[in-house]
Amino acid sequence: MRIEFGELKIGEKAKKNLLHCVETNWASGGPKVAEFEKEWGNIFDYKHNVAMSSGTDADINACAVLYEYGAKRGDEVIVPALSFIATSNAVLAAGFSPVFVDIEKHTLNINPNKIEEKISPKTRAIMVVHTMGKPCEMDKIMEIAKKHNLIVIEDACEAHGAKYKDKFVGHWGDMSAFSFYVAHLICCGEGGMVSTNNEKMANILKTTRSHGREGLYFDHIRFGLNSKMNDMEASLGLEAVDKFWEVFNKRKENLYYLLDKLKDLEKFAYFNLEEKHEVVCPHAFSITLKDPKYNYKELYEYLESNSIKCKRNFGSIPTQHKAFAFMNHKLGDFPEAEYVGDNGLHFGIHQFLSREDLDYISEVIHKYFSKFK
Ligand SMILES: Cc1ncc(COP(=O)(O)O)c(C=O)c1O
Repeated sequence: MRIEFGELKIGEKAKKNLLHCVETNWASGGPKVAEFEKEWGNIFDYKHNVAMSSGTDADINACAVLYEYGAKRGDEVIVPALSFIATSNAVLAAGFSPVFVDIEKHTLNINPNKIEEKISPKTRAIMVVHTMGKPCEMDKIMEIAKKHNLIVIEDACEAHGAKYKDKFVGHWGDMSAFSFYVAHLICCGEGGMVSTNNEKMANILKTTRSHGREGLYFDHIRFGLNSKMNDMEASLGLEAVDKFWEVFNKRKENLYYLLDKLKDLEKFAYFNLEEKHEVVCPHAFSITLKDPKYNYKELYEYLESNSIKCKRNFGSIPTQHKAFAFMNHKLGDFPEAEYVGDNGLHFGIHQFLSREDLDYISEVIHKYFSKFK
């Protein structure tokens, strides 16, 4: 593949950090994790940062905190019908039931106007996802949460550095979850973080990532898992923190360069556009066809056969993934999510792509759509 989704290049600082782990025998969570938590928090001004072994574990641990705020097993957490499946799996893994709300196909995010009709006496939280780095409508969502006394978890795994209005994502809800998998702007190989400005929540998270242990070994006071990050992962993260804005700006440049090149194709597809009130994290380049006649499957295969690695725009979790068939939703329940699942794909715009690579992508996409002109 010529165009991959993301690439990991380990630099001198990370190598030095890794060597330090080896020489000091710190293979589990230790000083590098603590340093990474601090440095990560400093970039976005998050007060408390609790490193996890993955973004999925960050989501699970954030959900586990709900037990300390009155939630019981089997209670409900509202999630978007379309996202990377980790969000819904995390709700299940933490012992809750996901309640799905349809998305808007032009933003790929939860439709805030459809949240309230899904709130029941068992609802404990709203978990939103800033899909493809585009922030959800947080002012509307926070208003609903306040009215119904619900906790808000922001899954910002794809949204490092994104801003809604004047604030970084993660400053709107009670907790936010991040992933440091290779596709993301800050990469640890594998890894995650829950950030929060709430000290009590942070203290709970420090225990849930270690089987709910507090104080003496082995005293387990609440539900938890082994979700700890290790020092070798943090070693990579520390280098990525240093380079964050450089990477962000390069990816943003790539996003805008390609958006500009593909402007004449806006009649065929929704792209991930940035609006005035926000700063979008340049996570990937998304194409959702405006009409099924443009044939998503053919486009996907055409891009792949031209060495552009593609991924589906996730699909509707409750109705297009067999894994959630046990919830008995039926096709048609989430029309926008299903439409995107059938007509949308994304590919990488990472920092190591050259102008020639971007010109090549544009050329391939133009060639595909030329038959519809
Ligand atoms: C929205 C979202 N949530 C959760 C995750 C899970 O993160 P991880 O792969 O680190 O477990 C991802 C992964 O990319 C994601 O995109």
